[in-house]
Amino acid sequence: MDCSHIQFCVAEDGFLRDRKSHELIQLQALFEVASFWAKKRRIEDLSIAIANSNPVVSVWDKDRLIGFARAISDGIYRATIWDVVIHPDYRGAGLGRKLVETVLSHPRINRVERVYLMTTHQQRFYERIGFASNSSTTMVLYNQPPAKLPAQEMQFQEAPGG
Ligand SMILES: CC(C)(COP(=O)(O)OP(=O)(O)OC[C@H]1O[C@@H](n2cnc3c(N)ncnc32)[C@H](O)[C@@H]1OP(=O)(O)O)[C@@H](O)C(=O)NCCC(=O)NCCS
Repeated sequence: MDCSHIQFCVAEDGFLRDRKSHELIQLQALFEVASFWAKKRRIEDLSIAIANSNPVVSVWDKDRLIGFARAISDGIYRATIWDVVIHPDYRGAGLGRKLVETVLSHPRINRVERVYLMTTHQQRFYERIGFASNSSTTMVLYNQPPAKLPAQEMQFQEAPGG
């Protein structure tokens, strides 16, 4: 696949690229097709998550959103990366690696002592980028879910999310 025209966009202002609400509709659709933990996210909640993340990196094939990742950082000690996805049609071409490396090279992240993420199935992918398994330090408090979901969909809330 020729990906030379693919654009990586780094945002810090609560939007993805063009400050248009249609961006979030595309993001909702991308999560629906490309994730298992974020399939039913509401536009309003996505907007809150993006507004409170920095950096937010989106990947575009012209006007089509085909990848996404976001991070939360204190700028010096700790950061976490969340919601890493590449659209299934675009996988295996190095875009996922470039997406994560774009997050890692951002000034909010690149001086941080430890960068954490949670993954259920993609350990090998992250190992290629330099992450190591770390089973000793993770705990979780299951708080209120952001949206009222039917009981059978709660499993997605409990799975780690990129
Ligand atoms: C994980 C994901 C982002 C990878 O994106 P991608 O564009 O296909 O990955 P790349 O092509 O950049 O692969 C980078 C490297 O990782 C390797 N890799 C990618 N996925 C892999 C996997 N599942 N197992 C082993 N290696 C993998 C590639 O072979 C490549 O190796 P190389 O550097 O030696 O060439 C993508 O598969 C995806 O969106 N998956 C669904 C969502 C998901 O699970 N996200 C992670 C949440 S924690």
